[in-house]
Amino acid sequence: MDNKDSQAPDVIAQKDQRSDRSFDTIADHFEKKVYGGLKGDIRLAVLRRDIFAYVNQMSQKLGRPLHILDVGAGLAQIAIELAAQGHTVVVNDISANMLAKAKVSAEQAQATENISWYVCPYQQLEEQLAAENVEKFDLILCHALLEWLAEPVAVMDFFDKHLTDNGALSLCFYNPASFDYRNLIMGNFNLLDTLLHKDDNQADNKKSLTPNHPVAKQEVESWLQQHHYQTLLTSGLRVFHDYSPLKRGGHNDPEAVIRMELRYSQQEPYKWLGRYLHILASR
Ligand SMILES: C[S@@+](CC[C@H](N)C(=O)[O-])C[C@H]1O[C@@H](n2cnc3c(N)ncnc32)[C@H](O)[C@@H]1O
Repeated sequence: MDNKDSQAPDVIAQKDQRSDRSFDTIADHFEKKVYGGLKGDIRLAVLRRDIFAYVNQMSQKLGRPLHILDVGAGLAQIAIELAAQGHTVVVNDISANMLAKAKVSAEQAQATENISWYVCPYQQLEEQLAAENVEKFDLILCHALLEWLAEPVAVMDFFDKHLTDNGALSLCFYNPASFDYRNLIMGNFNLLDTLLHKDDNQADNKKSLTPNHPVAKQEVESWLQQHHYQTLLTSGLRVFHDYSPLKRGGHNDPEAVIRMELRYSQQEPYKWLGRYLHILASR
C-alpha cells in the first residue's frame, strides 16, 4: 500500500505549556530501553494474549479480516503481527523515525501488503483518512500514548468518530499508582512528598521514558463510562517484575517470569499494580 508520510512537527499542541511528545529524537533509546529486554517481552506477551483472542473471535463472527488502527504506534509490533495474520492495518505515529523502524520490522515479517502508514499527529489523521475514504475501524489500538499527550481526554472523541458501532478499543496506559508504589518500596519518600504538591511528573531529562502526564485508572474508567464503553477485560502489565530488587529464585528464568506475569496479570488485586494497565472495551 501507499506511504502517506507528511510533515510531522515535533510539537503539535500547546495547552498550559504542555505539548504532545514526539519520540523522534529518542527512537533508538526507546527501542533499546523498552523493548530490548524482558520488560518489553512481558508487555508484548500480555497484549498479544489479550488482543489476539479477541481479534480471532471477532473475525470469525464477522466472517472477514478486521480493519484495525494503531495510533501512536511506535514500533507497532502488535499491529504488524495482526497484519501478518491477514488483517488490514493502519499504522500512525507523529514520529517518522519510529515508523521507519516499524517499516523494517513489517518487511521482515512480510506484512507490508496489509499496512498503510501515516506519519502525522493523530489529530491530523481524520483529514488524511477521509481523503483515502477510510473512516471506521473494528479495533483501535492506543498503547502508551495517553500519558504523552497534552490533552489526553481529547483522544476519546477521536475514538468515537473512528470506531464502528460494535468496535473495540484496546487502551493501554501508564499506571501512576505503580510509580508511587515503586518509590514506596525503594524508600524514596522525599520524592513522593515533593510530587504530592506538583501537578504532574514533569521530567527534566529529555530522554526520560517516565511519562510527564500520567492519567489515573479511575479517570480513564470514567471517560470510558461517559463514552458508553463496556469493559471486556482488564490486565496489568508487569505486576511484579519491576518491583523486585533481588533477582532470586524464579527471577533467574525469563520464561518463568513471563508465565507468572501472564497468570497474575488478570488477577485481583495484583493487576492494579501493573506498571501499565490494559483495558479492552467495546461499544
Ligand atoms: C511510549 S511510545 C508508545 C509506542 C507504542 N504504542 C508502544 O506501546 O510501544 C508513544 C508514541 O506516541 C507517539 N506520539 C506522541 N504524540 C503523538 C500524537 N499526537 N499523535 C501520534 N503519535 C504520537 C510518540 O512519537 C511515540 O512513538
